Amino acid sequence: MAIIKVHDKSFDIYLSEETILQRVKELAAVINKDYTGKRPLFIAILNGSFMFATDLFKQLTIEAELCFIKLASYKGMKSSGNVVTSIGLEDDLFGRDVIIVEDIVDTGKTLHNFLPKLVHQQPKSLKIAALLHKSEATEYPLEINYIGFDIPNKFVVGYGLDYDGLGRNLKEIYQVI
Ligand code: IMP
Repeated sequence: MAIIKVHDKSFDIYLSEETILQRVKELAAVINKDYTGKRPLFIAILNGSFMFATDLFKQLTIEAELCFIKLASYKGMKSSGNVVTSIGLEDDLFGRDVIIVEDIVDTGKTLHNFLPKLVHQQPKSLKIAALLHKSEATEYPLEINYIGFDIPNKFVVGYGLDYDGLGRNLKEIYQVI
């Protein structure tokens, strides 16, 4: 047991660094195979996905490009739902093979709101790679093509994921107690 404290909450180790890196290697191997002869553009969503994107990208043997974007939600003037806009997406996605890189898909709302913006640019293909998926928490079903770990619906920190700004630097992933 390795209990840590982040802000006011206690967390127990859930995935070791070794387990995470092994799984990232496996995902990269599948992607290397699926995209042989192609040149996909990886779009990593900040902040949480920076570690996953880095480790995944290091394992690629195919030609690939990477960009990082940030998503910002705001309430539409008329609509009651959140509208998601991206900051930093300079690449033209027309005709590209695009892979979204997310740290975690929880309810699916963020990507559900954001994907139409990408589809609008008519990429040749659009897939999602998520290190973590809380399938029990799904409210907006999405097809996630590359999943690292399907995890219970409990809050986690580490390996890029934060709890109120802290915990991103942890090499392992911890689950709230
Ligand atoms: P969704 O829109 O509900 O799928 O949530 C996605 C975003 O919520 C992720 O990109 C994270 O920033 C955040 N998030 C969801 N669950 C967790 C968690 O357990 N730990 C840290 N961040 C989380």
